Amino acid sequence: MRITVNGPASRLSQYAGIGARRESRQPPPWPERSALPVGDPRLGLRNRWSMLGTSAIVDREPVPVQAMGEDLVLWRDGEGKPHLMSDHCPHRGARLSIGDIVDGQLQCWYHHWRFDGDGQCTWVPSQGGACSLAENTRVATTYPVRELAGYLWGWIGEQPPAKLELPDEFTNPDWSTFPESVEWGANWMLALENLVDLMHAPFLHARSITLGGGATQDRALVNDHDDGFEVTRKNQAGVNFDWIDVHTGNLPYVRLDIPLPPSAGPGPPLRILGFLLPRDNDATLVHFPRFRAVSGRERQIWRTLYRLRLRGTHLHVLNQDKAMLESMRTVEEARRNEHLAQADRPVIHLRRALEPRFEAQRQWMAEQSLQSTEVSFD
Ligand code: FES
Ligand SMILES: [Fe+2]
Repeated sequence: MRITVNGPASRLSQYAGIGARRESRQPPPWPERSALPVGDPRLGLRNRWSMLGTSAIVDREPVPVQAMGEDLVLWRDGEGKPHLMSDHCPHRGARLSIGDIVDGQLQCWYHHWRFDGDGQCTWVPSQGGACSLAENTRVATTYPVRELAGYLWGWIGEQPPAKLELPDEFTNPDWSTFPESVEWGANWMLALENLVDLMHAPFLHARSITLGGGATQDRALVNDHDDGFEVTRKNQAGVNFDWIDVHTGNLPYVRLDIPLPPSAGPGPPLRILGFLLPRDNDATLVHFPRFRAVSGRERQIWRTLYRLRLRGTHLHVLNQDKAMLESMRTVEEARRNEHLAQADRPVIHLRRALEPRFEAQRQWMAEQSLQSTEVSFD
């Protein structure tokens, strides 16, 4: 069992840093320790940009973030610049995310050692502050973070970060947007397979206002592009969830359109981008910022309707996906007796497209363990 407090919503608030946990100054319970070693592809693909959340998930206090099987702390320095590093003090191992920001640095609560944004220890008060012990001490792991378009983006990996280029929807003012994030208690690969699987919509979401329509029998088509592939249906377009654009490069994400009913106000279909942040082998944070290319009065109508009515409808649909994925949980459990249909062609394509990356990561893990063996015999 994973550790949760008052259900998944509360867990999300604690681990994403949304909420008022600091009032009690109690650490949130540790997430269940991953049984998999860091780097295992089941924990996510490393050396890529991940959306961590909106800029609002961290303010003046550090917050814990569980990502790809690692316990990390996200915090802002004196200039408001975000930093992401191991949630583990290199003095005696206390959790840095229950520390404080002092003089723009992260201070461990236990003995008040301080660390800068690079993870370098700068202050050991019991030895007078700045000293050679401080100079020789660092937080074990730090990861690059960028803040762009109202979101925080982390590069979780060992290689130098690639240039972060955001999809047009984040920068083009034609789009009106709302952030949205949900947590699914299932492996990230199952969440991604759910997204490329267009044919689940008229079944699982049969009773939804937006995704219930269209034919229930069709063929799935797949076409590669420079940064991934597109999935369409052979006999249907623009009726339901009939198209998805999958990006598998330095910033993995999906792009899809959902036709909206007249009750959603005038305007084109809803555009959704999807970013997955694997927590662990069996939990994934899914960011689904929503966009609609509307302006003027249409934009006002859309934003009002979205807040009052449409958001609830969308969350209801996402809960249907959540129920399915949480009934599957891990890749091994889901594939135990798998029988794929033609409509699963995008799922097969996705697995094949990612396999070289999985393999590269397995290689990296093998090299890491070789190195540590070598070190222990020195
Ligand atoms: S454990 Fe962090 S300062 Fe001692
Ligand atoms: Fe769905």
